[in-house]
Amino acid sequence: MADIPETGRDEAAPGAVPDAAHGAALDAARALQARRFAGIDLSHPAAAALFTAGIGRLAALLAAEPRLFEKDAPAGTTSHKIGAPPKFIHEIVPPPPPDVFFKLQRVLADENTTNEDIAGIVSADPGLTGFLLRMVNSVYYGFPDKIDTVSRAVSLLGRREIFSHAAARAVSEVYRDMPPRRYLNMRRFWRHSLACGLFCRAASLAAGVGDPERYFVAGLLHDIGKPQLLLALPAASETAVEAARMENVHQSLAEQRLFGYDHGEVAGMVFAKWNFPEELTDAVSHHHHPERAQGSHKTAMVHAADFAVVALGISVDPRAHMPPFSPEAWETAGLGPEPLLELLNAVETHLDDFVAMFSAG
Ligand SMILES: [Fe+2]
Ligand SMILES: [Fe+2]
Repeated sequence: MADIPETGRDEAAPGAVPDAAHGAALDAARALQARRFAGIDLSHPAAAALFTAGIGRLAALLAAEPRLFEKDAPAGTTSHKIGAPPKFIHEIVPPPPPDVFFKLQRVLADENTTNEDIAGIVSADPGLTGFLLRMVNSVYYGFPDKIDTVSRAVSLLGRREIFSHAAARAVSEVYRDMPPRRYLNMRRFWRHSLACGLFCRAASLAAGVGDPERYFVAGLLHDIGKPQLLLALPAASETAVEAARMENVHQSLAEQRLFGYDHGEVAGMVFAKWNFPEELTDAVSHHHHPERAQGSHKTAMVHAADFAVVALGISVDPRAHMPPFSPEAWETAGLGPEPLLELLNAVETHLDDFVAMFSAG
């Protein structure tokens, strides 16, 4: 591992930290960042830039939400052993998608159907209708005029984009109302997921590579295996989180060791059972080991987006170790430090609006 980079001016963070607390918060954040990045090669320009950029954000977060950094109550019975053997991944049964998604999948796959057929199915579902109209009227698209009918939204966006939005809505709806879990704050989970989705979409647009909406969905849903694992194997997945924390490694490594698969592969299994396109399934499955994705740009971008937003503390647990870092995937993603930080700034600018829009209805 390379030396920790000299930090200074570039640590400046959005978010106000009172002067008196500023120095102490920065010191604490710097120490935390060093711990989270343990084992990551900081001679890589993207890793070094993110290490530094994250310090100011972590300091602001420490000041704004100190509870996030408090130690959890002792777990009592927790050990690194799993009481019951975990299921094999193919034995995990995800919840069914909402009916409207099944209907839409069928209609979108049939070339003989019309935009009116699609609009008819969307309009019958108030939740999906509201979501689609909020999206199409948001800064995400930046259309100059207000779009107030589903038919108009469908003809403006086209089939592939309608599928992407319907998929995003369907999956988030299924996992939205999870019962509260000790180690999965769903508010922070969706904030992280949206940041990744927005980053992937913006990076696809900036590079002129791929379909931006598919990138958005891949980024948005890459960690859906986490809530699914907690539903299927509640005690064992909590053990994985605790083991990762105690050993200061990323959660995916603890899952791999304890279960033989990680939450990315669980997300891929959910996608496959829901008949999502293979490129999306691969991108979520391999986000923590992109070398398995045979040079896929989308997978590399999800891997990079995840690392980048976690580095800034936009994650379920800002104390947790950084995700694995693949220099080859960063090469494939083609993101140098400067465009990377610009993209992140753009994502942060609109993130709160998107979180509000996504959580509404
Ligand atoms: Fe992940
Ligand atoms: Fe993630």
